[in-house]
Amino acid sequence: MAASSRCKAMVLLAFAAAAALSTASLAQSPLQNNFYGSSCPQAEATVRNVTEGIIAKDRTMGAAFVRLFFHDCFVRGCDASILLDPTSSNPQVEKKAIALRGYDAVNKIKAAVESVCPGVVSCADILAFAARDSAVVSGGFSSFDMPSGRRDGVLSNFFDVLQNIPSPILKLQDLIKNFAAKGLNVDDLVTLSGAHSFGQAHCSFFNGRLYTTVDPTMDATYAAALKTVCPAPGSNGGDPVVNNSRVTDPNVLSNQYYSNLVTGKVLFVSDQQLMNSSYTAAKAANSSADAAAWMGQFAAALVKMGGIQVLTGTAGQVRKYCNVIKS
Ligand code: HEM
Ligand SMILES: *[C@@H]1O[C@H](CO)[C@@H](O)[C@H](O)[C@H]1NC(C)=O
Ligand SMILES: *[C@@H]1O[C@H](CO)[C@@H](O)[C@H](O)[C@H]1NC(C)=O
Ligand SMILES: *[C@@H]1O[C@H](CO)[C@@H](O)[C@H](O)[C@H]1NC(C)=O
Ligand SMILES: *[C@@H]1O[C@H](CO)[C@@H](O)[C@H](O)[C@H]1NC(C)=O
Repeated sequence: MAASSRCKAMVLLAFAAAAALSTASLAQSPLQNNFYGSSCPQAEATVRNVTEGIIAKDRTMGAAFVRLFFHDCFVRGCDASILLDPTSSNPQVEKKAIALRGYDAVNKIKAAVESVCPGVVSCADILAFAARDSAVVSGGFSSFDMPSGRRDGVLSNFFDVLQNIPSPILKLQDLIKNFAAKGLNVDDLVTLSGAHSFGQAHCSFFNGRLYTTVDPTMDATYAAALKTVCPAPGSNGGDPVVNNSRVTDPNVLSNQYYSNLVTGKVLFVSDQQLMNSSYTAAKAANSSADAAAWMGQFAAALVKMGGIQVLTGTAGQVRKYCNVIKS
């Protein structure tokens, strides 16, 4: 009896120590690893399985999930506000401000999770898990913990997007300010910009670097190739998409972005601006030289981004459908 209760006490102590450690490592974050461990043990595996299936079918979808997570977190925090559809009482929602891909795919993941644990897993956490899983599937990252316990918000406002999502023509100092307003530093800016190694972009976001004269910081051969796809503004050629990286497989998340950056083969002013200070240029050179170090930094920065202004505890709600508020 005595031995058994002493044993129990030791086990409890061990748990307390482990809890203290994990609390310390997540200091300032109300989120926790494996939040659904007892309430929905299959949650993360289900998200992973469906996300993998979606990317296997369409390899461009990894980039879509990562960008959705970025846009969610930068506007009102990571609360899935980006996913809400317009309603008659709120027609001007976030998703009307900037076109993003992947909304149907997120609904598909949510439906699979609802079928194993109805009403338990938030859409905000599903976005975070899907972004993590995309780094694993599309970037070859070893899986890493994505803390969870986010709740879904009930507000979504078009104008918040314009104020919080950085424009692709921002100068370095303004990019740094934009990230700082979200608690992210200049290292996070350089590291997370590596997401522009994969996915797609519309010509309209960088046409100003092609016409009427080519931006001298852009590689001339690269610019000439882009001009064969992107028509001059005003020529009624529409707004085609190009791949973020035209150098290697455009669906792989990797540190290729930084070699592209150093050689002037990136699309946006905001990308090229990372070469505008000796610190950010050195950081880019380091990220280019050491893939493993960049991957570790990217995973950590994605987790950090995932902690922006989260709703936890009893704040907000857990939606049933990611595109509508639960009333
Ligand atoms: C630093 C400021 C940033 C600016 C100005 C910026 C801007 C843009 C723009 C204009 C596009 C093209 C969208 C389109 O034409 O549909 C794009 C694409 C993308 N961005 Fe960013 N972005 C930034 C940071 C980030 C961050 C932090 C991430 C994620 C960690 C990210 C992930 C992506 C991805 C994955 C795509 C491709 C999306 C797709 O294939 O649908 N971006 N970005
Ligand atoms: C995994 O996803 C596939 C679709 O990609 C689905 O058919 C299958 O039932 C899923 N399995 C689990 C265990 O969620
Ligand atoms: C983007 O990459 C895909 C896959 O490599 C390729 O089929 C497609 O032609 C590329 N698009 C452009 C505009 O270069
Ligand atoms: C930074 O950008 C400005 C223009 O925005 C340019 O005049 C300046 O030369 C650039 N500096 C560096 C170090 O690239
Ligand atoms: C780049 O790497 C070198 C060598 O590891 C390091 O001393 C330096 O601080 C790094 N620079 C940046 C900006 O991260």
